[in-house]
Amino acid sequence: MIGLKSMKQFLLLFFLPLCLMGQNNGAIWPDTDGVHINAHGGGILRYGKRYYWYGEHKSDNTSAALVGITCYSSTDLRHWHNEGVALSVSDSVGSDIERGCTMERPKVIYNPRTKEFVLWFHLELKGQGYGAARSAVAVSKSPAGPFRYLRSGRINPGRWPENIDTAAVALLRPENYKEWWTPQWRKAIATGLFVGRDRAGGQMARDMTLYVDKDGKAYHLYSSEDNLTLQLAELTPDYTAHTGRYWRIAPGGQNEAPTLFFSHGRYWLIASGCTGWTPNAARLFSAPTITGPWTYHGNPCRGEGAEKTFGTQGTFILQTSKHHFLFMADEWRPHHPIDARYLWLPIRFDKKTKLPYLEYQTHKAGL
Ligand code: GAL
Repeated sequence: MIGLKSMKQFLLLFFLPLCLMGQNNGAIWPDTDGVHINAHGGGILRYGKRYYWYGEHKSDNTSAALVGITCYSSTDLRHWHNEGVALSVSDSVGSDIERGCTMERPKVIYNPRTKEFVLWFHLELKGQGYGAARSAVAVSKSPAGPFRYLRSGRINPGRWPENIDTAAVALLRPENYKEWWTPQWRKAIATGLFVGRDRAGGQMARDMTLYVDKDGKAYHLYSSEDNLTLQLAELTPDYTAHTGRYWRIAPGGQNEAPTLFFSHGRYWLIASGCTGWTPNAARLFSAPTITGPWTYHGNPCRGEGAEKTFGTQGTFILQTSKHHFLFMADEWRPHHPIDARYLWLPIRFDKKTKLPYLEYQTHKAGL
């Protein structure tokens, strides 16, 4: 028989370290079953008293979707209960979401009008690498799912962005820009060479996030034009489709991993550069209205590791109270994807420059 005292000692020795583990950035983060949280490239939705964290399920040796999009829930952001698979991959051959496809950067928003949870994610079709560049949407009546898959596709076929000079695009001759990365090519990209190229079939969409504005309108922000330009597209009132109105952000700037928040009277966007799983320096932009104009402010990270976003890439910004925001980022492990780690930092504002910034701290923000 184990005495009460030794039982207590056992619980302290065994469970306390387990509970404390996730509190540090970059550490294994056990869920309430003691298993490292598997919700990468994710985002968090607050609904009622609970937070719901949706993310990519990753496996030991592949980033391909073998399971689907996972959901965890918590009341304190620290202890996460595994709610299971919110949207499962399909076993039907030829399905958009066939097992082995790529499902990345899932985000969920709640629509009070339809009382539905709406999930959008970046979808790449099985066996096609990153060529499809589609967005996919699914809905559910309850936050943890199961979500009902609706469809996937490129964005706003046949439509021009609101902030493009269509006459200038019409003058571009694609045959003159076969070689990439020349100064002329860069200029043509900024003018809209690839917007014109993709207009008929719809705009490409890879890394993405969602944002619900104060007026209840929702927006889809994604890396488009071969990851060269971010685009912000308005969603329909039920949040399950695009209205046809969209805006380009930082044309030709090569930004991905977009994250968005509103504070101090401005919209703030933190993105990364395009170096795949390898970390690079983050980029900060701001705008007076969500549709722009957007101003570039440089790297928001400070201190040691700032040039590599502290070894991570952003995925979402969660508002935890009126003035508190936390920047969620992934420390990818491409050779052992399931082992990727999480970085949560507080967003602080510089009193002098009035700009938000990120500084590394060992302890996860919000916990
Ligand atoms: C990153 C992107 C990830 C994933 C990866 C694949 O740049 O942010 O979501 O797509 O590339 O290499």
